[in-house]
Amino acid sequence: MKIALIGNGAIAKLVTQFCATHANLTIVGALGLASDTVSVGQHSLVYTIADLLAFKPDMVVECAGHAAVKECAGPVLAAGLDFVIVSTGSLADAALWDSVQAAAAKSTGRVKLVAGALPGVDALSAGKLAGLTKVTLRSAKPPKAWKGTPAEKTHDLDAITTRTVIFSGNARKAALTFPKNANVAATAALAGLGFEATTVELVADPGVTQNVHHLEAEGAFGSLSLKINANPSPDNPKTSHMAALSIMRLLENEATAIVI
Ligand SMILES: NC(=O)c1ccc[n+]([C@@H]2O[C@H](COP(=O)([O-])OP(=O)(O)OC[C@H]3O[C@@H](n4cnc5c(N)ncnc54)[C@H](O)[C@@H]3O)[C@@H](O)[C@H]2O)c1
Repeated sequence: MKIALIGNGAIAKLVTQFCATHANLTIVGALGLASDTVSVGQHSLVYTIADLLAFKPDMVVECAGHAAVKECAGPVLAAGLDFVIVSTGSLADAALWDSVQAAAAKSTGRVKLVAGALPGVDALSAGKLAGLTKVTLRSAKPPKAWKGTPAEKTHDLDAITTRTVIFSGNARKAALTFPKNANVAATAALAGLGFEATTVELVADPGVTQNVHHLEAEGAFGSLSLKINANPSPDNPKTSHMAALSIMRLLENEATAIVI
């Protein structure tokens, strides 16, 4: 399978290394920004989506950020290709989500949203088929990890010594207010009850050293409570290693006879 990447950063590097060990998975090229001058792999870098599609990939994998989803979803789907999205937080923008759904409906390609750092997407989306009544996501990080976000305006992050909720609201507001932390909340919403009915709590916790995501759901299936203590990516402390691993899992499922 020929794969084109969008992005040349931490996730792209891990996915590239993984594909190098799989005979069925070949990275044919990657789309980057002008600042991406050295490829993370043996493949070439290009700077327009048209040049990326000229590699004639079977599938395009976004591992770049919200702007890349907005810029590339239309052309990739218009070319009839599957589009894998890891920056799911971009889809909290209702207009973008509508346009992605419309483009996918007209395309022979499909949009594939990976679980990223959220645990239990399989159980959540299966539970949804029998009806969900409640979905809550609590995401905790060390206080300093919230620097550079709107939490800086509402809280003195350096002074936090106990577990402190810095945001509570629905997944839409969480994703739009904290775009750099939006992906997990958006994935929970998309797999489960939607952006309005999914409750999100963002927490500054001096007692944690990793990103901790705790998903709770209730419905006709029963209830679930899943927590991940996510280690950072080797090359980007802001990105959970799981984000790249979930793309690798998807690619492995695409390339093998038995899917799990
Ligand atoms: N779903 C999840 O749980 C989850 C978790 C972590 C990260 N993510 C998403 O993955 C993205 C990539 O993570 P990373 O750690 O590899 O980031 P990174 O900063 O290491 O790399 C991003 C790469 O994408 C390129 N890029 C940025 N905007 C682009 C655009 N518009 N077009 C083309 N290339 C562009 C950058 O130049 C860089 O090469 C994050 O921005 C985030 O949205 C999702």
